[in-house]
Amino acid sequence: AFNRVTIPVVVHIVLPDPSVVTDEQVLGQLATLNLDFLAQNADLSQVPQVWQNLSGNPEIQFCLAARTPDGEPTNGITRTVSDRTFPITRAGFEVKFATSGGANAWDSDKYLNIWVCELRDNYLGVATFPQLYEPEEQGVVVHYRAFGNSGSARPPFNQGRTLTHELGHFFYLYHIWGNTDNNTCTDDDNVEDTPLQGTQNYDCPSGVLTDNCTPAAPGIMYMNYMDYVNDGCMHFFTAGQTERMRTALETQRGSLMQ
Ligand code: ARG
Ligand code: ZN
Ligand code: CA
Repeated sequence: AFNRVTIPVVVHIVLPDPSVVTDEQVLGQLATLNLDFLAQNADLSQVPQVWQNLSGNPEIQFCLAARTPDGEPTNGITRTVSDRTFPITRAGFEVKFATSGGANAWDSDKYLNIWVCELRDNYLGVATFPQLYEPEEQGVVVHYRAFGNSGSARPPFNQGRTLTHELGHFFYLYHIWGNTDNNTCTDDDNVEDTPLQGTQNYDCPSGVLTDNCTPAAPGIMYMNYMDYVNDGCMHFFTAGQTERMRTALETQRGSLMQ
């Protein structure tokens, strides 16, 4: 088992009326996130029996920052009035700079920056992979309709799992089907204990599902956080994914740990 670590978080809400995402909604999102990253989520029991022993516990907890970069007291939430909607170009960089209608990052070596805004083109979220992008751009962006489990969140993405998924990417996880969706079965997520999978799944599948990359039971692992199913239908990271995230955290993002 890993040592439990804590990562300080700042949430930047960038909207025409940023008060629509309340402090309570942010706290609800953080609570859900912590359950998922401590493998304490109630729906873990819905992982199929054959894969129960593969469930991983990242032992990462997240807390809202108590101090600003200048050392002033804060609740770890900033609000910026902006009429902009944001494309996911370059991991959503425009929301990360005041000069383009966004909010500047707090030192990304010390804080995990999360931006909540209106993303264009039906994207729910986007993340920076380790080693790509400038320090000022590190962090994740989540659509305000897919953030948290109350307030502005809308079904079927109102159980906080967009942030769980995006933080998987932030800690170096690929999608469970790999990087492409062309069913070649050669492209993998570089994690041993997740079955090969041809392409993404949507909505809320059930039962054993197979495809041409994994043609036999127990089939593909569509209920993994790194697939595209609805929030209520994704339930876990595997041990292999957890190992990969912890390695990325310790080697690439170690300065975030407290
Ligand atoms: N990367 C995906 C997107 O931008 C996020 C998928 C999140 N899935 C979810 N059930 N919340 O669309
Ligand atoms: Zn993704
Ligand atoms: Ca795999």
